[in-house]
Amino acid sequence: MSTQSGSGKNKPEKVTTQTVVEMKRSGEKISMLTAYDFTMAGIVDRAGVDVILVGDSASNVMAGFDTTIPMTMDHMIYHTSCVVRGVERALVIADLPFMSYQVTTKEALKSAGRMMKEAGAHAVKLEGGRTISDTIRKIVDAGIPVMGHLGLTPQSIYKFGTYKVRAKEEEEAKTLIEDAKILEEAGVFSIVLEKIPADLAAKVTESVSIPTIGIGAGEKCDGQVLVLHDMLGLNKDFSPRFLRRYEDLDAKMNAAISNYIRDVKDGSFPNEDERYN
Ligand code: KIV
Repeated sequence: MSTQSGSGKNKPEKVTTQTVVEMKRSGEKISMLTAYDFTMAGIVDRAGVDVILVGDSASNVMAGFDTTIPMTMDHMIYHTSCVVRGVERALVIADLPFMSYQVTTKEALKSAGRMMKEAGAHAVKLEGGRTISDTIRKIVDAGIPVMGHLGLTPQSIYKFGTYKVRAKEEEEAKTLIEDAKILEEAGVFSIVLEKIPADLAAKVTESVSIPTIGIGAGEKCDGQVLVLHDMLGLNKDFSPRFLRRYEDLDAKMNAAISNYIRDVKDGSFPNEDERYN
């Protein structure tokens, strides 16, 4: 994979926004996962993932809310700065939370700027199509790389009323393809496509020269993203069709913690080697 030079000896070469655009051109698939804290970000980075998204899904998996709506700039800056400190190689993208970029372009610029300056993000992600394209253009003009997000956009859940697959109807599919082109023209370096029919995602992927990253959007996207807690089996209550679970960490952690409780109760922890004399 082509990457930008690292800054020191033995440091991995950093993934940049140019790297992921180049990966589409060379046909190499892009791997992306979410992370929200220092320890997990380090594990994900050392495993070699290309892109880490500090998603506002932190609202669900870290804070226990039902939607992403409650997330604030301060929450996202906290999570993003923790992730940035844990990462050496991956590109770190941070979600701008609900209402931090929709009201005015000036506010959007301020939010994007805070995410770069205070949290150390390498890029920001915004949900929406043509309605936010002028805002995106301004953020990109300020030197901040932007990732787009189309299809199921969870910040609009109260408008949609459901988390079902989007753009199954011809009209919405047509609008989505147009939006992808408008976002590319506005300067985004990549677009997340969430929960749309695989054939439509394939069409979008062919229609733009920037990479598409799918979640529930089929195999033709240029890359894939999953929420870390979901793919590790830490989030038992969430089982959409698109989710592949690579581990059952809920069960593994439960067993480890149960063993610890047993050892404390029966007095076998700590033993002689685990104490100071
Ligand atoms: O917030 C998030 O985790 C996301 C991904 C699901 C793409 O936006």
